[in-house]
Amino acid sequence: MTNKGIKAQDIIEFIEKFAPQELAIEGDNIGLQVGDEISLKNIEKIAMALDPSLNVVKKAKEEKIDFLFTHHPILKDPTRTFTGLIYKKLKILMENNIILYSAHTNLDICKNGLNDALVDLYKLKDVKYLYENGLGRIGTYDGTFEELLNITKEHITKNPTIVNSNAVKDKEILKVAILSGYGLSQKSITYVSELADVYISGDLTHHSKILAEDLGLCLIDGGHYGTEVYGLKLFKKYMEDALNIKIISLDF
Ligand SMILES: [Fe+2]
Repeated sequence: MTNKGIKAQDIIEFIEKFAPQELAIEGDNIGLQVGDEISLKNIEKIAMALDPSLNVVKKAKEEKIDFLFTHHPILKDPTRTFTGLIYKKLKILMENNIILYSAHTNLDICKNGLNDALVDLYKLKDVKYLYENGLGRIGTYDGTFEELLNITKEHITKNPTIVNSNAVKDKEILKVAILSGYGLSQKSITYVSELADVYISGDLTHHSKILAEDLGLCLIDGGHYGTEVYGLKLFKKYMEDALNIKIISLDF
């Protein structure tokens, strides 16, 4: 599992070529999260995770990881103090010289990123961006809801939450919207209800479910984890092949 002669800069260049930073939505926290003067640092062990959770950070230490890539950044909201959980994480990362690097919405949006991975999985046709900023995709699925659901159960999550499937049960061609991660907000459900028959995303709440029922939109909640880890696994493979390295997965 040890890689020889890879520089941190080589890894970062690959990531930023694959998921250009300028694609990220405004205000997103992407790029180098923890580390300093790293460009020429020699990297032997690389790991990938969806989240820089305390558990992932501890595992990175145990595995003697030099470079940790996570999809979600370590901090989302402005932080004024470094105490408690964030202190613990930073302490482990810094004491063990672990570089932390994230590509978030730029990896969702980019070509062959997390949204395109779902497009390929469901074999959607005539695909367009769901949102102008590049988040989500919308296209045509040549098949029934049952078939769509089976793909979800096989590749995304064994137990998806389904809302309003009656609305589409007799259709043989479906307009399908997908959005990796948190897409099942009330705002997004309202928007998608005008455009699609089925909306596949994650993080459904009670109020969003009621709204979708009222609007007659069929939802498949494949979970935030399921809808993102599917594409993250493919990204891991692209990176391993492109750089001829081994990457350890820490939470998927
Ligand atoms: Fe996410």
